[in-house]
Amino acid sequence: MSSSFPLNSPTIPANVRTLHSRDELPNLLIDLGLTGVGVEVGTYRGDYAAHLLAYWPGTLHCVDPWLSQPDWVDMLSTDQPTQDANYDATRQALAPYGDRAVLHRATSDYAAHQLAPLAPFDFVYIDARHDAPHPLEDIERWAPLIRPSGLLCGHDYLLDGTYATGVYAVKSAVDGWMAAHGSQSIGNRLRSPRTLSRPG
Ligand SMILES: C[S@@+](CC[C@H](N)C(=O)[O-])C[C@H]1O[C@@H](n2cnc3c(N)ncnc32)[C@H](O)[C@@H]1O
Repeated sequence: MSSSFPLNSPTIPANVRTLHSRDELPNLLIDLGLTGVGVEVGTYRGDYAAHLLAYWPGTLHCVDPWLSQPDWVDMLSTDQPTQDANYDATRQALAPYGDRAVLHRATSDYAAHQLAPLAPFDFVYIDARHDAPHPLEDIERWAPLIRPSGLLCGHDYLLDGTYATGVYAVKSAVDGWMAAHGSQSIGNRLRSPRTLSRPG
């Protein structure tokens, strides 16, 4: 097991454009005119959702089961009381944004079905379970719900492997899906690589 991330991977596709941080996503969405409705899959304690809502004017659906999952090997995998506390923290963090923040206490799979009637979304940001087969399943279930000019975004585009923080199969999922769909990618190879890919 390695204790550090394999940053600046030479295997990042050549068409990756770098952003300084995922904190720039709100600006990118605004620049692209994607200011209506988005989804964050995997919300944890609402920190990144709060950032999006602070700097982007749309409505954000936040999907997380806040459920203890004993089979999930990750530093954030925890017991049910802690998950309940994470849910409460999220409600508190997003309360200032009123009905621009819509919480869905559900798995990615269930929520994708529930939210399908509201599609197409301007963007979906995937940051839930990083172990196989979840990243690819998440991409496949949410990509069809994004408008053709929208963004399919995510976090933790690391080389696949087992690290101190958990088990990752994000990169193979993103690369495989992009190869199959010929999508453009806009990514970040600084402190923690992320990928934003534009369907179609
Ligand atoms: C890395 S954290 C999200 C961090 C958050 N996006 C942020 O940047 O502040 C991953 C979250 O995914 C959630 N999660 C686990 N399984 C999930 C599933 N099947 N569907 C949606 N979310 C899930 C976990 O409960 C956890 O809160």
